[in-house]
Amino acid sequence: MKQRQGRGRFITLEGGEGVGKSTNLAFVKAHLEAVGLEVVSTREPGGTPLAEEIRALLLAVREEPMAELTELLLVFAGRAQHLATLIEPALARGAWVLSDRFTDATYAYQGGGRGLETRVIALLEQLVQGDLRPDLTLYLDTPLEVAEARLAGRDLDRFEREQRAFFERVRAAYLQRSREPGFRVIDAGVPLKRVQLALAAELDRFVEETVL
Ligand SMILES: Nc1ncnc2c1ncn2[C@@H]1O[C@H](COP(=O)(O)OP(=O)(O)OP(=O)(O)O)[C@@H](O)[C@H]1O
Ligand SMILES: [Mg+2]
Repeated sequence: MKQRQGRGRFITLEGGEGVGKSTNLAFVKAHLEAVGLEVVSTREPGGTPLAEEIRALLLAVREEPMAELTELLLVFAGRAQHLATLIEPALARGAWVLSDRFTDATYAYQGGGRGLETRVIALLEQLVQGDLRPDLTLYLDTPLEVAEARLAGRDLDRFEREQRAFFERVRAAYLQRSREPGFRVIDAGVPLKRVQLALAAELDRFVEETVL
């Protein structure tokens, strides 16, 4: 899809816990910078001081259970702030934005994981984002055991304490998103070097198609 000249592109890295999103974020950023692009990297939930406060609310383990709708609204509240103060201004001045998670994670966690209706998520997506969607989504996929082994020994946040079935539903919901435009499934259950070769191939193709 051709886009307005001058505006940056929006790339998201997605995947469940421990698949290697943060590890590969730096690689993707460096790969794009090597072809002369300005890249702003960020994450969700969070990405601005206020949105990071909302992230802390979302991840904290507390006695009072968080209602599913509260969780969904907090996710989109943080996203509205992130878009208004960081993502939109960066894209408008021509920078590329690279986010560790975005709305596909909402479809996966609050939709697949928690069981909220896709229709409700889509409604908030439209309200908060208007027409903005990622131009490219790199979804890192591994079987659950692989990611679990990589995370062994970490302190667990509110999501990471969920049962295995929750993460199976998250993964299934992510895989369902593979029909969305710009969504690429990357096999991340292989050695890092191979994951990065696959990421580089997708990025080179994307840069060639959309910019050159
Ligand atoms: N392809 C790989 N092969 C082996 N180990 C890997 C690979 N990719 C990442 N790791 C390791 O797995 C661990 C988790 O990676 P990372 O923190 O990047 O995952 P993440 O997707 O950001 O997780 P989270 O959702 O918890 O933020 C790290 O110790 C990292 O070094
Ligand atoms: Mg991470």
